[in-house]
Amino acid sequence: MPWNPNPKLWRDPVPADAARYDPADVFAAGLRNHHVANTAYPIAHQQTFKPYRVTRSEHAEVVARSFADIGDMCLYVHVPFCETRCSFCEYTVVGKSELDQTEAYVDALLREFELYDRQLALGSRRYFGLDIGGGTPGYLSAAQVERILAAIHARVTFEPGSDISIETTPSLAAADPAKLAAFRALGIDRISMGIQVIQPDLLRVLNRSGNGVEHHHRAVEAIRRAGFQRFNVDLMYGFAGQSLASWQATLDHAIALNPDYITLYRMRYKLTRISHQADAVTLDAIRPMSDLAKNRLREAGFHANPGKTTFSRIPGDVGTSSYLAKRVQTGIPYLGLGLGSQTFTHTSIAYNDGAAGKQLRPYFESVAAGRLPIQDLYDLPARHMMGKMAAVSFYFGEIQRAPFLAKFGVPLEEVFGPEIRFVLDQGWMTLRDDALALTPEGVHCYNGIIPLFAAPSIQRYLLERDPHQAADMVRNRDLALRTGARISHAVGPGDEAALG
Ligand SMILES: C[S@@+](CC[C@H](N)C(=O)[O-])C[C@H]1O[C@@H](n2cnc3c(N)ncnc32)[C@H](O)[C@@H]1O
Ligand code: SF4
Repeated sequence: MPWNPNPKLWRDPVPADAARYDPADVFAAGLRNHHVANTAYPIAHQQTFKPYRVTRSEHAEVVARSFADIGDMCLYVHVPFCETRCSFCEYTVVGKSELDQTEAYVDALLREFELYDRQLALGSRRYFGLDIGGGTPGYLSAAQVERILAAIHARVTFEPGSDISIETTPSLAAADPAKLAAFRALGIDRISMGIQVIQPDLLRVLNRSGNGVEHHHRAVEAIRRAGFQRFNVDLMYGFAGQSLASWQATLDHAIALNPDYITLYRMRYKLTRISHQADAVTLDAIRPMSDLAKNRLREAGFHANPGKTTFSRIPGDVGTSSYLAKRVQTGIPYLGLGLGSQTFTHTSIAYNDGAAGKQLRPYFESVAAGRLPIQDLYDLPARHMMGKMAAVSFYFGEIQRAPFLAKFGVPLEEVFGPEIRFVLDQGWMTLRDDALALTPEGVHCYNGIIPLFAAPSIQRYLLERDPHQAADMVRNRDLALRTGARISHAVGPGDEAALG
């Protein structure tokens, strides 16, 4: 049945989500809190999402209802294993003691997929892409990835134009060209490799020395030999002590590797092991880094709209996987499988076991007991689902109007009239037939613009938050690390577990 956006499908908002704030105040609060006002949504689960959390006994019913009329969707599979844990990483990655459990993990993933298939008849829907993200899925053996893909292909069919994308690291790619060839032979179309930065001293601080430049050329050679023609490299900026000159050297090195796409990630400090450094990184330091990257990439023949984070040198190719492009541009629902994964429908957002504690045991126990391994499930009002769709849209620098209307049954301009007038008057966005898009000036202040589309409870949180206290940058993470796995909505990943 096609999606029909009837207002009754969404939960009623609590009073905190029925308020209205002045766009100029919200914008200023977003800029003040630029380290948290970004594409990760929501901010502060406890204060914003908590009223919409459903109990475990309601999970199956809410999941069934949320997926009832969804015909088109994507799939995400999370693989939490890594050689070492980088100190900047915000993703759900397991500790050293769990690295030997890859086979048990693949078993559990497949059981989870079966549980969803039994409840939702997955084969009756249309699929537009599959991302295998992490962590580092390249850490799995080719046989393990083959098992995952075989189980998925046995139940669902992908639409023409869909692709399968996977992530790896330089050291893994350089060490095992045969594995990459096997991935490609399995029908994986796109591969993404994190370089981040190239300076040995910075890599050391980031606990990533094992992925230095000595691996890069061999890794790229292996990727190309395997037959990958859609190859992305991730770079990061916004680290404390990262100079403009060193960032330029990283950019030039990445361009020389000749990838098809380069994705720029501005460091998000929240809940990471280097969150204490955030205060040392100002917008005045970040803006020249972002400008430098854009100019350098354009000169080298890579293109992207203002505000878009993935640059492509292939004409007509946006550079991201079809999973991400669909998710970001059209707000398509997706089912996330695996530790800490996020699942997104038109009316709900769920986080799997492990999103907080980052341990395998609770996830294994849930699937073994035959229940969906959901840690937190939120049945949400339309304003939060709109806020989520809008926040993620900024990966592409624009909010598409037709998908918004199709998803919510109401035009973007009708919901966000004062906010849109504000950004148009300031010259930070333009309203085209297809999209509300950032201008080059708006790119410099996107941290103020994104919260304009957030639900009021999130806006209030930002209005009241003291960026210099910023207890939420570390507290929840420390709590999670101290107390282990099951901490209901103590933390929630932003977009992360699903973006890569
Ligand atoms: C799932 S991760 C990693 C892929 C692979 N494991 C690697 O490290 O090369 C995808 C990308 O997210 C980015 N990333 C990780 N932590 C981040 C953070 N705290 N803020 C912004 N980007 C981050 C990195 O650029 C990374 O390559
Ligand atoms: S950045 Fe990649 S390799 Fe490093 S911890 Fe995160 S997922 Fe693992």
